[in-house]
Amino acid sequence: MIQGNGKFRYFWDLWIALAATYCAIEIPFRLVINYYPDQILFFADAIVILSFITDIFIQFKTTIIVNGKWVKDGKIIASAYLKSWFVVDLLAAIPLGFFFLPASSLPFMLSRLPKILKVLRLFNFKNKWEYTIKLNPGLIRLGLFFYFMGLGVHWISCGWLNIRLVDAGADMIKEYVKALYWCTTTVTTIGYGDITPDRERPLEMIYTMVIQVLGAGAYGYIIGNIATLLANIDIAKVHHRERADRVNTFMRSKKFPEALQERVHNYYNYLWATREGYDDSAILNDLPESFKFEFALLLNKNILEKVPVFKGADPNLIKEIVLCLNPCVFTPGDAICTFGELGDKMFFINKGSVEVVSEDGQKVYATLKDGDFFGEIALLLMQPRNATIRATDYCDLYSLDKDSFDKAIAHYPDFEKHIKEMAEERMRLR
Ligand code: CMP
Repeated sequence: MIQGNGKFRYFWDLWIALAATYCAIEIPFRLVINYYPDQILFFADAIVILSFITDIFIQFKTTIIVNGKWVKDGKIIASAYLKSWFVVDLLAAIPLGFFFLPASSLPFMLSRLPKILKVLRLFNFKNKWEYTIKLNPGLIRLGLFFYFMGLGVHWISCGWLNIRLVDAGADMIKEYVKALYWCTTTVTTIGYGDITPDRERPLEMIYTMVIQVLGAGAYGYIIGNIATLLANIDIAKVHHRERADRVNTFMRSKKFPEALQERVHNYYNYLWATREGYDDSAILNDLPESFKFEFALLLNKNILEKVPVFKGADPNLIKEIVLCLNPCVFTPGDAICTFGELGDKMFFINKGSVEVVSEDGQKVYATLKDGDFFGEIALLLMQPRNATIRATDYCDLYSLDKDSFDKAIAHYPDFEKHIKEMAEERMRLR
């Protein structure tokens, strides 16, 4: 069995995409320009046919995902394949040309047309590649969009060349470039009018009209789509900008002080710079319970490594606490806790620094940095905050609410001991 998301399958799909592209370009081209294939082209055709036939066998032997699970059962794989891409693959793989030799005859060239169908498989590859390669899905979609647009222009140009009257000795490559030019100007609704259908040949007129109508429709569709595709390349940035813009407009309309607007603006910039605008807790809440712990462990890895009380702590404590830690950000000058207020949570510093200051703000008792914690005394002794905590820098903190704190203290004596010792020492220092 071949692994559906493995390296081999990925390179094989790339190879098939390349072969399909060759067919989609060369088959209509040869049909209208009618050149006799040389040995290299025969060789290329043979390789394409062999690849397409092999592809069918490989499909039957590749594991697939059904209901979120990898399936190796040959019967299930075969039935899924027969119901989906098999017909397209079969039509593209049958070497019909053998029945219509010689290779320069029209029936031979027509018999090659079904091979073009293979390009449709790119839609299937796209879905897979969005997961396997680390490329932005928006970029893959945009690439595919331009790919099919290019092929469309090529096909329409070939159709135009086919119905045009071309002098017997004309340079066909030059004629093809002219057709491409006609097609591009018509499809993009520019229509310079320097290459126009012959008024005496209704077929050319009708073809032009159809392409004009299709072009006008497609043009609007393309412009609309490209805007969305471009916007979607960086969904996170778009969301973040929307959020920040909404707040900025709100503050402007309410005529908030410039200094506050500036601080909020800087706060959003900081959010983008440090976490690309993502809200960890919103993403965690969206996940099923089974993933939450693993996610939270990875997200909060830094803080668990930095805070001494968590290092070497009981794994069960880590498991309980990691899901209760809530990330929060404070900007320079913010009062995170104020002397005398009731405290309902404590904080761990992931990044940044804070000052522990007296009620009047004159005396600085201590400066706390990465890995330190504060706000534990109010929770332990059930008393109001005994100092004010001021952010001196942008601070990435994690808060732990009183309920979770109480549970941890009750169940894990080591944790309780460490926190109590720290609190006692701090109170002694005052
Ligand atoms: P709490 O009283 O909840 O709120 C203010 C916090 O400041 C307090 O908990 C301690 O965590 C912290 N704190 C108070 N005094 C000191 C100190 N001398 N050194 C470090 N931190 C302190």
